[in-house]
Amino acid sequence: MSTQNLAQLLDKMWVDYTAINPLAQKIYDVLTAQGEALSNDHIALRTFNHPRINIEVLARPFLAWGYKEMGDYQFPEKKLYAKHYQHSDPKMPKIFISELKLEEFSPALRETVNSLVNQIPANAETANDFTSIGRPWNVSTATYDALLKESDYAAWVAAFGYRPNHFTVYINDLKKFSDIRVLNEFLKENGFKLNSSGGEVKGSKEVLLEQSSTLANNIEVTFSDGKRMIPACYYEFAKRYAMPNGNLYQGFVSASADKIFESTSKGQ
Ligand code: NI
Repeated sequence: MSTQNLAQLLDKMWVDYTAINPLAQKIYDVLTAQGEALSNDHIALRTFNHPRINIEVLARPFLAWGYKEMGDYQFPEKKLYAKHYQHSDPKMPKIFISELKLEEFSPALRETVNSLVNQIPANAETANDFTSIGRPWNVSTATYDALLKESDYAAWVAAFGYRPNHFTVYINDLKKFSDIRVLNEFLKENGFKLNSSGGEVKGSKEVLLEQSSTLANNIEVTFSDGKRMIPACYYEFAKRYAMPNGNLYQGFVSASADKIFESTSKGQ
C-alpha cells in the first residue's frame, strides 16, 4: 500500500527507523526532556547503482513531492556516489541518497546484488513508499558475510533493504545544545557511544558543517538460514554555518561523510 503524501512517508520512515534503532528514540526523548524541540536536518538512504533501484529511482517520489536535486558527491574510498535533495519548504528534511558503484566490485558481488534485485516483486520499486518497505529479498548469513568482506555498505543494504540508514538532529535549532561539543559530552554522560572514526566531530566551521553520530546499535536480523546480531542504524547530529552570502550552507562535506559511513562498521 502506498502512502498518500510526504508527511505520511516521513512519519512511516521515523517509526520504522526507531523500531530498529531504539537508541534514536531514547536520545530524542532525553533531549526533549531537556526542553529541546528537535528538527531533522536530513534522512539518509542507501542503495546500489543497479538501474532498477538506483538513486534516481529512490528519488522519484521525493521529486514529485517538491524536492529538487541540489548537490552530488563522490566517495572514492568507499566506492559510493551520492546526491542530496532539498524541498522548497526549508523545514522539510533534506534527503541524502547514496549508491554503491557495482562496477568497482568483484563479479561475485555484482552477481549477488543482481540476484537480490531479481527477488524484488514486479514494480515494487515504483511505489512512493519504496524507501520504507524494508528488505524486499531473502538473504543468507553466508551471503551477508561474503558481502561484508568487500563492503560494509553492501552488507548493510543486503540485510536491511529500503529504510532510513539515519535521521539527523539539526543542532542549529537546539537551545542548550547548540554547540556540537556540548551536545556530544551530554550524550556520552547519558551513556550513548559516539562514532570516533576521524574524531568525534567531523568537519569544522571552516567547511561550514560539523557532524557527529552515534555508533549503530546491534539488532537481531532474521536471515534465510537463521538469526544474527548485526549493526543496524545510527543517529546523526549536524550543525550548519553561514556562507559568505549569509545563507546557511545546505550541502554535505565528502571527507566528513566518508567517516560517518563507518558508523555501521563492525570494527568500532
Ligand atoms: Ni548523514
